[in-house]
Amino acid sequence: MRPFEYHNPVRIVFGAGAFKRLGDEAAAIGNKPLLVSYADEPELTKSLQRGVQQLVDRGMQVTTFFQVQPNPDVQMVERGVELARDIAADYVIGIGGGSVMDTAKAIAAGVEYQGGDLWSMVNSRHDQDQVVPPQTALPTLMVPTLAATGSEMNNCAVLSHRERGEKSYIWSDCLFPQTAILDPRLTYTLPSLQTACGGVDTISHVMEIYLNGQDQSDLLHAWQEGLMRTVIENLPAALADPRDRHAREELMWCASCAINGWASPGDPWTPMHQIGHVLTARHQVNHATSLALVMPAWMDFFKTIKPERYFRLARRVLQVDPHRRTREQIIDEGIDAFRQFIEQAGLPTRLSQVGITHDDLGPILDDVRRISFNARGQLTCNPPVTEQQLTTILEKAL
Ligand code: NZQ
Ligand code: ZN
Repeated sequence: MRPFEYHNPVRIVFGAGAFKRLGDEAAAIGNKPLLVSYADEPELTKSLQRGVQQLVDRGMQVTTFFQVQPNPDVQMVERGVELARDIAADYVIGIGGGSVMDTAKAIAAGVEYQGGDLWSMVNSRHDQDQVVPPQTALPTLMVPTLAATGSEMNNCAVLSHRERGEKSYIWSDCLFPQTAILDPRLTYTLPSLQTACGGVDTISHVMEIYLNGQDQSDLLHAWQEGLMRTVIENLPAALADPRDRHAREELMWCASCAINGWASPGDPWTPMHQIGHVLTARHQVNHATSLALVMPAWMDFFKTIKPERYFRLARRVLQVDPHRRTREQIIDEGIDAFRQFIEQAGLPTRLSQVGITHDDLGPILDDVRRISFNARGQLTCNPPVTEQQLTTILEKAL
């Protein structure tokens, strides 16, 4: 096992119906919240009204900032920071998916930020000395309405800068929410596509580490396998019946656990996400789709470099029957099964399906190199990925 340090202070309130705890949990934090959510999400209107009512009933002065669009842009965050300062908010609540929670975190940090332009908080270049991460933030309370990014239980926010055409992370312990209320019922209204995206994103968070992280860590790998299997078993159930309470509960807790640090101690790299962020910034595909487009090709490239890992994935996660099959066949069937799982959920798995052509690969590579390559000119992971290898992977993904 690799050495690691672990810290996660987020208080979790989990369960069907937990949303009614919002007022009590909020009252323990402050009394002048900025409540952040989407600009236009009719499905959530009732939940938002219920949320506001609970806060008002506790005598709070609530101000709403319902301006979030998917893949939040730093300029929108600036408007939220201005509003939070104007009203002297003492904490920030996010009710929504990753875009909302990340916006809420960035506003909470932005209010106290002393590092200049808010974009300086973002790790958008590999020459890290230009980054000034936030040191302090207002407390936050998160209510995820989509089981996907795990933002509710981690110290990360992802922002975009439309003019620069960049998308990247803010990492700072001050971004850990104080409390997260996880009510799986809030996800019943999700359209199938968003449910599928959430499941694929959740798996990707663990698979990234499983495939590209350390080679020997028994508990870690067993934990990752269990989490991936749980999503593979429950996503079809939630797609078949959006009100399947058990499936929604499992998917919601999986999403939080996939990226709260438990599945990745000692393995901080997310190379497929680095490529995915560039695909989103350049080609406007949503976050989970950007990963679905890369993962099968990535696996097909690495299967001969790390055959043990891919064999284990095929057997223990994708449950390929080994009878009368060679190891190579089992590995290939595992990768095919994963591609089918994504496609059956309704997401594309090839760049050409979203209109990306061979001519687009050069600029995509340039951005991955500029934003995510380390000083040795590689994408950091185990083993590191060279530019030549990345070119081959993207060509395979077409
Ligand atoms: O479908 P529409 O009508 O557009 O409405 C919203 C929203 O636009 C819908 N939605 C959310 N909850 C709903 C609902 N619809 C009905 N019922 C509900 N209960 O879902 C759409 C997408 O929402 P969004 O917040 O964008 O999705 P997601 O949770 O996937 O978040 C994606 C963002 O999180 C970042 C991504 O890069 C992206 O910007 N990530 C954040 C991470 C983190 N903080 O740790 C890690 C992730 O890897 C990811 O990068
Ligand atoms: Zn993700």
